[in-house]
Amino acid sequence: MKSILTATAVSLFMLPAAGHAGGTVEVLHWWTSGGEAKAVGTLKEAFEKQGGTWEDSPIAGGGGDAAMTALRARVMAGNPPAAVQLKGPGIQEWADQGGLADVEDVAKAEKWDDVLPPSMAEIMKYQGKYVAAPVNVHRIDWMWVNPAVLAKVGAEVPKTWDEFNAVADKLKAAGITPLAHGGQPWQDATVFETIVLSEGADFYRKALIELDEEALTGETMVKVFDQLRKLRGYVDPGFSGRDWNLATAMVMNGEAGFQIMGDWAKGEFLAAGKEPGKDFICAPTPGNGFSFNTDSFAFFKVSGDDRIEGQKVLASLIMSPEFQETFNLAKGSIPARTDIKLDKFDSCALKSFEDMTAAVKNNTFVPSMAHEMAVPRTVRGEFLDVVTNFFNSDMSSADAAKAMGEAVKRAQ
Ligand code: BGC
Repeated sequence: MKSILTATAVSLFMLPAAGHAGGTVEVLHWWTSGGEAKAVGTLKEAFEKQGGTWEDSPIAGGGGDAAMTALRARVMAGNPPAAVQLKGPGIQEWADQGGLADVEDVAKAEKWDDVLPPSMAEIMKYQGKYVAAPVNVHRIDWMWVNPAVLAKVGAEVPKTWDEFNAVADKLKAAGITPLAHGGQPWQDATVFETIVLSEGADFYRKALIELDEEALTGETMVKVFDQLRKLRGYVDPGFSGRDWNLATAMVMNGEAGFQIMGDWAKGEFLAAGKEPGKDFICAPTPGNGFSFNTDSFAFFKVSGDDRIEGQKVLASLIMSPEFQETFNLAKGSIPARTDIKLDKFDSCALKSFEDMTAAVKNNTFVPSMAHEMAVPRTVRGEFLDVVTNFFNSDMSSADAAKAMGEAVKRAQ
């Protein structure tokens, strides 16, 4: 394995004379919860250790919608940050607008093509050149469970939605909130898409990637909304607007039995000193699929040798084996690089890796709609509106399914 210093030396060697070793980088991200801040702190620390200057631009708000609004304002003002946390089609959209700089010289020198899954490498490239560097693979379709809470009603971790509903009914009868949830559109959509996935990866793809009208509006989608309606009934009255990490805290301190959330929730449990398998359990939501998102940093065009150097040093650092290990141990995700040993990772990460490998083989590995990996921003926005309206009204499942079909037409 190449050390961070060697990797960086490669990129420094290719660079024009810089203001100071390591350069300067402004990083816009939305990692502000306990676990997230700890994880991004490892990147800042490593960058500064090499003599670089890190300018932190955190924008609070899980899921990144607030960060994307801030980014648009910065670009409009002609002053984009050098590195921006960005995902999936968003990378291509910004590149299409001419906003991104490539870091192809670093990627070539460090052979990124050899250590990334080809489908992921494609997402990071624009016209064949790397414009972004991936840090991880987050699994979305997880349930975070408090085993002590389940024990109170003599329940086991459910494997189907019917089992889930039965356990949740018992918890409710015992005066315990079954599902910790934060009522924000991206959180509603996170829960929604795990139900879509439980109907099979083919259905998920048809509905949330191919935008097939029959899949979006038909019987199966109606059934999906029926289960979402059930889940709505398991949420406490204070859910509206709650941040995702506060919902995680409810599971942690025994106020609720479950949270359905990506594995950044594990970062919260770990940051609070909790142990997987003992204090909390990670279990996939019902079904056989695996939905994922990949956080990456996209590089915006900046000027000045010092800033360009900072960008390249950061790109090299992000892809270094050491960083991919340290960061993901704190973040709850698994490394984007395929050559990192997982011996320091916990049972949830190992399960994620094992299930991901199986899902890739079985063709049940799907990108997350809620987390901006599946469809363009406009379509996602319309879908989130439908799901959130449904969650916060007494709209029927049939009307919601119809609205999903209309949402696509509106977005196009
Ligand atoms: C990101 C995660 C982040 C989560 C909550 C997701 O979209 O991929 O890195 O922790 O949002 O903020």
